[in-house]
Amino acid sequence: MNRTISGSNGLRGTIIVPGDKSVSHRAVMIGALGEGVSEVRKFLTAADPKSTLECLSALGIEYDVRDDVVRVHGRGLHGLRRTDRALDAGNSGTTMRLMTGILAGQTFPSILTGDESLSRRPMRRVIEPLSRMGAVIESSERFTAPLRIMGHFPLKAIEYEMPLPSAQVKSALLFAGLYAEGTTRIIEHVATRDHTERMLGLKTSDAPVGHVVEVEGGMKIEPRQLVVPGDISSAAFLLAAGLIVPNSEITLTNIGLNPTRSKILDVLRSIGGRIEILDQRTVAGEPLGDLRVRSSDLEGSIDLSGAKVAESIDEIPVLAIVGAFTKGTFTLRDAADLRHKESDRIRAMVDNLRKIGIDVEEREDGFAFEGKKDLLAAEIDSFLDHRIAMSFGVAGLALKGEMVIRNAECVDISYPGFWEGLEQLQHS
Ligand code: S3P
Repeated sequence: MNRTISGSNGLRGTIIVPGDKSVSHRAVMIGALGEGVSEVRKFLTAADPKSTLECLSALGIEYDVRDDVVRVHGRGLHGLRRTDRALDAGNSGTTMRLMTGILAGQTFPSILTGDESLSRRPMRRVIEPLSRMGAVIESSERFTAPLRIMGHFPLKAIEYEMPLPSAQVKSALLFAGLYAEGTTRIIEHVATRDHTERMLGLKTSDAPVGHVVEVEGGMKIEPRQLVVPGDISSAAFLLAAGLIVPNSEITLTNIGLNPTRSKILDVLRSIGGRIEILDQRTVAGEPLGDLRVRSSDLEGSIDLSGAKVAESIDEIPVLAIVGAFTKGTFTLRDAADLRHKESDRIRAMVDNLRKIGIDVEEREDGFAFEGKKDLLAAEIDSFLDHRIAMSFGVAGLALKGEMVIRNAECVDISYPGFWEGLEQLQHS
C-alpha cells in the first residue's frame, strides 16, 4: 500500500501513543516465566510484540487478549514445553534475540526463524556470549537465522563486558542468567534501555568498569500487574511533526520517560524545540508524563556520536528529518550498527533524504548534511522499515506537494494507526 501525505496547515489535538514495544515484549516474556497469571495493560498490539506472544504460545504458554489487556498464564522458569514447530519471530529482532536467551537454558531444542529482513540481521552478538555460558546454538555460516538452539540446563554464569551497546543482547544474557548456576554479571560502557532489569528487580550498580547488572540463577519470578507506558520512540514522530509543521500544538499522553529512552528530548530542546513535560509521575517502576509540543524555529547543530547514538538509536531516522528542517548541520557518526536494523537505515535515510533535496554525505558509520534547503515532496521507498516510513510521513506534512510513501503498511510493526493518528491531528 502506498500512502500519500500532503502539506499541513497545522497539527492540533491530544493523542494517545500506543504502548512501548520494548516493555511489551519483556512484560509477556517475564509473565510467561512467572509463577501465575500476569496482567499487562496497554500492551502494544502491533506485529512485533504479537510475534513474541505467538512464540510463547507455541511453547505452551496460554494467554488471552481483551482490547489492550493481555493476561499471560505463567508456568514458572521450567514450564515452557518443547515444540517441533519452528518459532517465527517475524520482523522482530527483540523477539529473536531475547527468546534465544530464554531458549538457551531449556532442556529441549528449539528453532527460531524470521522474515527476510530478520534473517539478514546479525545474531553472532548473542550466539557468542551465550556459547560461553554453555549454550549450543547453530546458525547459518554468517551467524544469521534460522537458529537451532539445542537447550542446555544449567548454563554457566559468566561475567560479560559488552563489546557493543545493545539492550537486546544484554536482555538475552539476563534471561539466560536465570537458567545459570550462580550470578551472571553484565558490564555496559553505555547504559542501554533497562526495562528487563527494572521488571525483574535486578541489582544494578555503577562501577569504575562501567554500569553493572547482576542476575541470580533460579530466581523466582512473581506474577505481576503492569501498565505499559506510551512508547517514546513512537511519540518521537509526533514530536518531530509538532515541531516542524507551522501552527501546531500537540499533547501526547502517558509517554514513558525512562532516562535510557528519553535523550531525544534533550536533543530536540537543544535546537530550540518547544517541548514541555506535564504531570511527571512513576507507574509500575517506570517514569512517565504527558508531553506538549509546539511548532518551533529550529536552529543549531545536531551531532550524534559515541554514547549519544546508542541513547537515541531508534530515534535517529526521525532526528535526521528534524535536522533537515533545522538551520544547522546534522552529523551522525559511530552508528554503523544502524545498517543492521529492520533495514540498512543509513542507506535508507541517505537515499530518501537525497530524494527530498538534501545534499547528504554518506559514510560507513553515518551521514552528514546541512538542513533547511529548499525541500521537495517525493516518492519515498520505506525499505519495508516502519521507522523509515513514519519519518518521511512526518516530513511530508511539512512540505508543499504530495509525498508518497511506498509500502506504508509496515508501520504496523510498531505503530498501527499511525497514519490515521496524523489525519486526526490535522482535523482537530
Ligand atoms: C531494543 C533494543 C534496541 C532497539 C530495538 C529495541 C530492545 O536494539 O534498536 O528497537 O527492546 O531491547 P539493540 O539492542 O540491537 O541496539
